[in-house]
Amino acid sequence: MKVLITGAGGMVGGLLAEHCRALGDEVEAFGHSGLDITDERAVREVFARLKPDAAVNCAAWTDVDGCELDPQRAFLVNSQGVETLATGSRLAGACFVTVSTDYVFDGRRENYFYTQRDDPHPLSAYGASKLEGERRAQAASARTSVVRTGWVFGPGGRNFLATALERARRGERLRAISDSYGTPTYAADLAARLRELAALDLPGVFHVVNSGEGTSYEGFARAAAAAAGAGGVEIESVLTDSLRRPAPRPRNSRLRCLLSEAIGLKPLRDWREALGEFAARADGAPRAEARPS
Ligand SMILES: NC(=O)c1ccc[n+]([C@@H]2O[C@H](COP(=O)([O-])OP(=O)(O)OC[C@H]3O[C@@H](n4cnc5c(N)ncnc54)[C@H](OP(=O)(O)O)[C@@H]3O)[C@@H](O)[C@H]2O)c1
Repeated sequence: MKVLITGAGGMVGGLLAEHCRALGDEVEAFGHSGLDITDERAVREVFARLKPDAAVNCAAWTDVDGCELDPQRAFLVNSQGVETLATGSRLAGACFVTVSTDYVFDGRRENYFYTQRDDPHPLSAYGASKLEGERRAQAASARTSVVRTGWVFGPGGRNFLATALERARRGERLRAISDSYGTPTYAADLAARLRELAALDLPGVFHVVNSGEGTSYEGFARAAAAAAGAGGVEIESVLTDSLRRPAPRPRNSRLRCLLSEAIGLKPLRDWREALGEFAARADGAPRAEARPS
């Protein structure tokens, strides 16, 4: 399969490019400087020249607070950029897979797993821009698969979940939110599922997270510390509201998928098992650098 990947300089996109190469795909991977998804002319040119079988978009402006402060830029990248890629895919005869987020939900339901039956209601500009991206992509190309995920951890990531393990290993004290809940997702497992969905070419909305009941940030930090063999590290629990961040976040954004098993996809393994593998890998040599153009 010839796969075009955007956002290949990021955590998920880099792993996806590695995974597809390992499977023997012909991979055209673009980092931000190689292909800016807001540059319509460049996107059109790349699709016309490469004619991929599938395009997978991992590019996004993922700075949730930054998006809140500059919604125009958030919509330019996360909505318009995604629409441009969907149009490019349609014109090139490719299916289109784009990654979206649990932040499309408001998270007001406690002890609940959000599925495709729930109406999205984003609280933040980031969530709104991603939801608009989903909808514009679906309108631009019927062969669009939207993959909502959440709480992604993995190598090279810049968020709390991605760095908790590293900080625990260094014996650094962790501050973690105790009253927000989600379903952790290992970036490598997500990448493998993105490749499967691209090959299936089944349009729709998918929720892709690791199995298990989910956890709070504090629960994740404790599990990460244990996996790093740093059970003694100090973890200070804090409440979401005490952080006074610009963007509101859903308190509960646990996801579950109604479709994946119905079409024969195996549930992703439990997040604790995936975290164990991430910890073991992170112990060894650093991951090979992704090679986006
Ligand atoms: N991480 C999570 O917890 C999480 C949760 C839910 C959903 N997601 C979604 O998962 C996907 C992958 O996220 P990630 O964690 O891999 O994020 P990431 O590491 O921030 O990767 C995103 C990549 O997109 C690039 N990018 C930004 N603007 C671009 C543009 N205009 N054109 C081309 N590339 C651009 C970024 O480059 P620069 O750094 O140079 O700007 C970055 O390399 C995103 O759709 C995100 O919304 C992530």
